Amino acid sequence: MCGIIGYIGNRKAAPLMVEALKRLEYRGYDSAGFCTINNNRTLIEKDVGKINEVENKINLNALNGNVGISHCRWATHGNVTKENAHPHTDCNEKISIVHNGIIENFSQLKEMLIKKGHKFRSSTDTEVVAHLIEEYYKNNIEEATRKALQHLEGSYALGVISVEEPDKLIAARNESPLIIGIGKGENFIASDVPAILKYTDKIIYLENNQMAVLEKNNVSITDINGNKMEKEPVKIDWNSELAEKSGYEHFMLKEIHEQPRAIAETLNGRTENGSINLKEDIVFSDEELLKVSRIIIVACGTSWHAALVGEFMLEELAKIPVEVEYASEFRYRNPIIDEGTLVIAISQSGETADTLAAIREAKRRNAKVLSIVNAKGSSIARESDSVLYTYAGPEIGVASTKAFTSQLVVLYLFTLYASNLRKSLSNEKIKELIEKLRKLPLQMEALLHNDAKIREIANIYLSKQNALFLGRGINFPIALEGALKLKEVSYIHAEGYPAAEMKHGPIALIDKNMPVVFLATKDIYTYKKILGNIQEVKARNGIVIAIVTEGDEEAKKLADYVVPIPKTLYILSSILAAVPLQLLAYYVAVNRGLDPDKPRNLSKSVTVE
Ligand code: G6P
Repeated sequence: MCGIIGYIGNRKAAPLMVEALKRLEYRGYDSAGFCTINNNRTLIEKDVGKINEVENKINLNALNGNVGISHCRWATHGNVTKENAHPHTDCNEKISIVHNGIIENFSQLKEMLIKKGHKFRSSTDTEVVAHLIEEYYKNNIEEATRKALQHLEGSYALGVISVEEPDKLIAARNESPLIIGIGKGENFIASDVPAILKYTDKIIYLENNQMAVLEKNNVSITDINGNKMEKEPVKIDWNSELAEKSGYEHFMLKEIHEQPRAIAETLNGRTENGSINLKEDIVFSDEELLKVSRIIIVACGTSWHAALVGEFMLEELAKIPVEVEYASEFRYRNPIIDEGTLVIAISQSGETADTLAAIREAKRRNAKVLSIVNAKGSSIARESDSVLYTYAGPEIGVASTKAFTSQLVVLYLFTLYASNLRKSLSNEKIKELIEKLRKLPLQMEALLHNDAKIREIANIYLSKQNALFLGRGINFPIALEGALKLKEVSYIHAEGYPAAEMKHGPIALIDKNMPVVFLATKDIYTYKKILGNIQEVKARNGIVIAIVTEGDEEAKKLADYVVPIPKTLYILSSILAAVPLQLLAYYVAVNRGLDPDKPRNLSKSVTVE
């Protein structure tokens, strides 16, 4: 939530920051602002609106200078107004800051600072930090920031510059993500890697209670007490083009189309000679994994839906009992964790505050923690005992798409790995299951090339305010995900339900205006029952859209619209079935004139609890 870019070097900072900040817009887009220092003056331009709108309102040319900080906001404290937009300054506009996070004790600090004569201009929690630094400033911005940090409670990623020391950019972090990009004769700070990939692939991940002083030719890192720390930059192997739209109208559509590649990358090197090779990823010994008698998966949002599919896979094939928890709920109960418990955290960003807090709680209770993460080196990845990366590349669209299907692929790989160890499946069976898995990228490619039907179906939703998604078994979480995608980007109220549960409530909503998507792929478990549920909806004049297995004539006779997906194993069908639902949400949003990359009120990375 909220995006930060800072720059120090030889280039003009403002245009670079505008360009880089646009790549962080998924973190917040209710206002944006820029600050540079030039000729001993602090120059600030900020306003409400998306970055493009702000760019048109402000005078970018006025922002000269080779050092700067910038911010896109997702409001937590204080309304969406120009005054509340960042950067914020001290009384004399000498010290400027941008902040992501929440200063929980800001009211007390503000009261104390007002008593000391400080004049506040905004109603944000952030502004106290600028005044606190001012309070401590004695010709050393690093020291003053360090002293101010000692008083802060809550979370922060901060960028600080001062007109008195224009050759320095200060960064600090506690609980909110912040990275440092190391360039040649220039250095950067950013909330996330894709924003600055175009300029450098050498990244230092700032950790909690660490500060950095950036100069154009030097970066020094200390802890909050000023002790020097050595941190080697990590080389990021994401291609910067992946963070561009490459001709697609929106990142969401581009990322939906990137799924075959994301899955292929995620599989790469992990399935060899008919067996699963995760030895390089998993640090637990076979003995440790064999002792696992129960798995708890924690996640939020779309990642939570992946967890539900994972539960099905692990119980069905590896025969391990699994519980799935919302990360935000996990630590507010008294979770029972014993020696045999493995906690798996799933997160695209690796920075979701609730998921991070859940793994800390799990570790406090001595659980082993394995995470499934997309962002290399992120907080969740660093704090887990072991990490299984998805190789989906940077995901910019707020609604998660390629990260989701890549998570499902990793869960499947881990399931087969565990099944092999526990001998719950024979070698031949595993080989066969891997073969089907390896076909997925091509099958998905074919599915994506055939989206005309989805575009047609999307028109039905133009005038609708409600929608249902029904599925059973492994496809129930896909129904949840279909509903979530639609409501996220099109603002239609949508619910996902287990198809049989429809009779216990949602059936009352069905009439000729209710579009109902059925996940009706062929399987030995629930297919016939789903056809029965379709009849029940038809009998009440609902509009039936069925996602079916290629060649299924029976479902075709019952449904108003069918979307065929290629034949695969039941357990893998959910990965393919997710794709038409993502496309549906996308086209409905676009038809309704909405921007699916920037859905209102949402943020891609929820770094506050
Ligand atoms: C936000 C995003 C979702 C995402 C969820 C969890 O709500 O908008 O797309 O699924 O956070 O994020 P994570 O990065 O932990 O997977």
